[in-house]
Order: sequence, then structure tokens, then C-alpha cells
Amino acid sequence: MFTFSDPAYRTDPYSLYRKARDEAALIPFHLGDVPVTLVTRYEECAAVLTGSDWGHGYSAGISPFRDAVAAIPGSFVRMDPPEHARLRGLVNKAFTPRTVAEMVPLANQVVDELVDAAVRRGSLDVLNDLAVPLAVAMIPGRLLGGDLADGERFRRWQLAIARGSDPDTLLPEEDIEARTQAARECMGHFAELIARKRAEPTPDLLSELVAVEQEGDTLTEAEVVGLCVLLLVAGMETSINLIGNGMLALLRNPGQLALLRERPELIPAALDEMLRYDAPTQFTIRVALNDTTVGGREFRRGDGVIVLTASASRDERVYPDADAFDVTRYAGTRPARRHLGFSLGVHYCVGAPLARIEAEAAIRTLLDRAPELTLATDEVEYQPSLIHRGILSLPVTVTT
Ligand code: HEM
Repeated sequence: MFTFSDPAYRTDPYSLYRKARDEAALIPFHLGDVPVTLVTRYEECAAVLTGSDWGHGYSAGISPFRDAVAAIPGSFVRMDPPEHARLRGLVNKAFTPRTVAEMVPLANQVVDELVDAAVRRGSLDVLNDLAVPLAVAMIPGRLLGGDLADGERFRRWQLAIARGSDPDTLLPEEDIEARTQAARECMGHFAELIARKRAEPTPDLLSELVAVEQEGDTLTEAEVVGLCVLLLVAGMETSINLIGNGMLALLRNPGQLALLRERPELIPAALDEMLRYDAPTQFTIRVALNDTTVGGREFRRGDGVIVLTASASRDERVYPDADAFDVTRYAGTRPARRHLGFSLGVHYCVGAPLARIEAEAAIRTLLDRAPELTLATDEVEYQPSLIHRGILSLPVTVTT
């Protein structure tokens, strides 16, 4: 029987997902005392994510989930249309392909400096010496116009809030307290930053949001603060883990690493395979907004489901040889079905283009400048988070 408390969920959730998929597409489950349904297979997961009968149900007062993220004003990841569209529309323009392309030189410059230092040292922690400082520079730094000297605090707040985005019923009390404390400090920090941007705007998304807030009644200051917290957490945690999980997959599959070195033009496709194979976001939750049917089962308005997107992305009904890591899977004229690593439907990751340029810059430069990379540990340690899958450190030896 599937359970999140199985120790294997940290080391190898995929074998647990496989058993769950073999059992059924829809499995009755309990989150604490809340009865919900686990959605295990691709077709059913995609149907829930893209179906207009599914959402979060907080504004309708029908959500069975207790959720701290939903309580942050402006946090549109837990909102339903039409409120969702108003807030997403305001940040969307920061993530158009053109705007994001303008961030490529900065990503390359940051990565160059970090990889240079690693080559000189002969060693690198892919997580803490590369992925984390890159994400700090791009998200609180570039996107929100924050101060890089606050990098360590941004990472600490982001980790505590990301851990706290697991369903409350699955969280120990001390993690809930740490989340509350981090959210309070982080919101205070952004409120001060907003006051600075009001007095002295800079070319970044935060200054643009502050201008919208000052212009009229479309956006409140509390919402701007909430949007900063959402972007910090949703952006940093996941883009760091894409680089960590992705590099780990390459290091554990030396044939694939060699192929990518030979054919770096495969990197964009390899990123999709990394998101399919070992996704930074493992699942998401949804609520039936109306009575509806999925996979032949009837759901009543207010019923909750856990959409196991990372299980769907390994569904052998959709992906041949689903447990193999194959950097060519998304290349070529008939690429594989879209993975659910960035979700689907109205909540499809708004930051996906930024995540891609960060990961591409990091992986391309690393492969280019470090002709030999070897994993310097046999075991990696995972964060305790359930929704987010990420390792705490990834030491490698760099030989030139
Ligand atoms: C590899 C990196 C990333 C992954 C795997 C990822 C994954 C996801 C997923 C799965 C969702 C949808 C959640 C759901 O359906 O409930 C999502 C939404 C979101 N992501 Fe990302 N994300 C990444 C990077 C980023 C970045 C860099 C940013 C911003 C700086 C960002 C900001 C957001 C926001 C604001 C949402 C909410 C969208 C909405 O509800 O309309 N993400 N992301």
C-alpha cells in the first residue's frame, strides 16, 4: 500500500509509484483524517490537470486541504480562475521568451565565474556551489531586484517555506513553526524592499509590480509581497533541484553523459528528460469544483485528489522503457509525450522558460569546461520535503 512515510519514498519513490500504478489509476487514500484519491497514471493525471471541473476550491470554500501556501495573499498557484488569471497575467510578461532571453547573458556570466572557481579548486558541490548561487542571482537578484548579500537568508527562507508547502497533515510541528517564522521574516524583508523600489525603481519585475500597485486598485501591497514570496519559493527550490537531480542522473548514467558531451545540441531535450525522469515537483493537489468523472469514477464537488505527476511521467503506458534515462527521448521528429514536470493546464509553470535557461547555462558550461566529472560520494541525502524532490549536496571531482 502506498504511503508517503515509507523510507523508500525519499530514496526511490519511483518503485512505490510503479506498484501504485499497477494497482489502479485511482486509489483511495487518507491525508491525516481527510479522505482523498491518489491519481497514479498519466491519462488520469492529465485529465485532472486540464479539466475545467478541477481547481483548488479555496474561494468556493470547498477545499478539504489545509494549506499555508493558499493563505499567502497573491499566491496564485492555489487560486482558481478568474482571480488566478488577474495575478498570473501581471507576472506573465516577465517570462515571455524575449524577456527571458535577455537574462541569458547574466546566467552565463554567473555560471562562468562559479565554474571557473570550481575548476581551479578541482572540486564542486553542484548544489551549493553552482545551482544555489545561480538561482539566487536570477530570482531574488535579477527578477526581484534584491540584494545578493542577502543570498544566504533567501535560501534559508525558501527552504523552510518549500518544506512547509507539503500538506499540513504530513508535516511535523517543528517544520510548521519554522515555516511560519521564515514566512514572517521573508514577508518583512520584501515589504522593506518594496518601499525601496517605490522610492527608487530599478529595471526588474518587482519595480514593475510596485508601479502597477501605485497606479490603481488592481494590486494591493500585500499581494505584491505575496507574489515575491511565491516567486522566490516556486522559482528557487525547483530550478535548483532540476540542476541537482539532472546532474545526478547524468553522473549515474555515464553513457548518457558522454553522449551529451558529444552532442551538446541535445541539452534542451535532455532537460525535458530530466524533468520526466526525476522531477523536482513530485505531485500537486486538486479539488473537484463540480460533480465530475475521471477514469470512469465519479467525484463529488469538494472531493480532493493528489495528482502524482512524477508517477505519470514514468507511466509505461505512455513512455516506452519509462525507467531508462535517455537524453534523446525528447529529440527528433517524434518526441515523447509531454512530461508533467511543469504540470499542465492553467497552472502550467509560468517560470518554465527561466528554469530552462538557468539549467542550460549551468549544464552546458559544466560539460564544456570540466572534461571529467566524477561523483565524489556513493550516497546522496535528500531533503525531507515530499512535494519537492531535491538533494542536499552533490559533491563532484573536477579534472581538466
Ligand atoms: C525546473 C524548475 C521548475 C519546475 C520543475 C517547476 C514546476 C512547477 C509546477 C509543477 C507548477 C504547477 C503546480 C501545479 O500544477 O499545482 C509550477 C507553477 C509555478 N511555477 Fe514553476 N517550476 C520551475 C521553475 C520555476 C521558476 C524559475 C519560477 C519563477 C521564478 C516558477 C514559478 C512558478 C509559479 C509562479 C507557478 C504558479 C503558476 C500558476 O499557478 O499559474 N517556477 N511550477
